[in-house]
Amino acid sequence: MKKIIIAIDGDSSSGKSTLAKALAKEISYKHINTGSMYRAVTFAALKEGLISVNKINPKKIIELTEKLNFDFKLINNHSNLFLNGVNIEKEIRLNQISDLVSQVSTIFGVRKKIVEIQRQMGLDKGVVMEGRDIGSVVFPCAELKLFITADISIRADRRYNELKINNQSITRKAVLENLQKRDFIDRNRKHSPLIKVKDAILIDNSKLTIDDQILFIINYLKKNL
Ligand code: DC
Repeated sequence: MKKIIIAIDGDSSSGKSTLAKALAKEISYKHINTGSMYRAVTFAALKEGLISVNKINPKKIIELTEKLNFDFKLINNHSNLFLNGVNIEKEIRLNQISDLVSQVSTIFGVRKKIVEIQRQMGLDKGVVMEGRDIGSVVFPCAELKLFITADISIRADRRYNELKINNQSITRKAVLENLQKRDFIDRNRKHSPLIKVKDAILIDNSKLTIDDQILFIINYLKKNL
């Protein structure tokens, strides 16, 4: 099959990453989780003291983003993000980052730089890129666009269980509130809000297994591309 770009967008904790990872493995494509890149900027900005309680310094964060180097490497079948050569995959999943990342991702200058890097990463095609604006802004010409969603209470359960496995102390209520807040920011921000573009296929996976979804996509690819 000719190599293409597969754009996967959707809500937080909708299962996008699980799907993108499994699909990329199935068809031997590169998996790029663009949310990780915004998380990495948030992580670096926190470290540099550019974010304090409810206060962020957009100008300085944009300057910082210009200096960051992003690289995805496959480790044990999982695409890990290296920031300036350091694997930060674990750190960027912490709740402190989840709480702040939506705000950081609203900064236009940050998005501009990150989108530029994402387009470079997709130049050779053969990528499954997931995020919020992949089909709408980063690759409007992607050959296959998917929009993933699931019921909010199911998404909260998934995220809560994931955090519990990683021993993070948090209540389900806090997880649900964080998801609602992120949904609102992601869908209502001024630049590149999360939208389902017309040519994206909607998948509500509330009641679907990962195998159901992969089967559907592979069949679709065989028939249409
Ligand atoms: O997919 P995630 O939850 O790790 O993404 C973290 C945040 O980054 C999310 O709240 C919205 C933002 N994001 C974005 O604005 N654009 C993307 N392409 C990917 C993520």
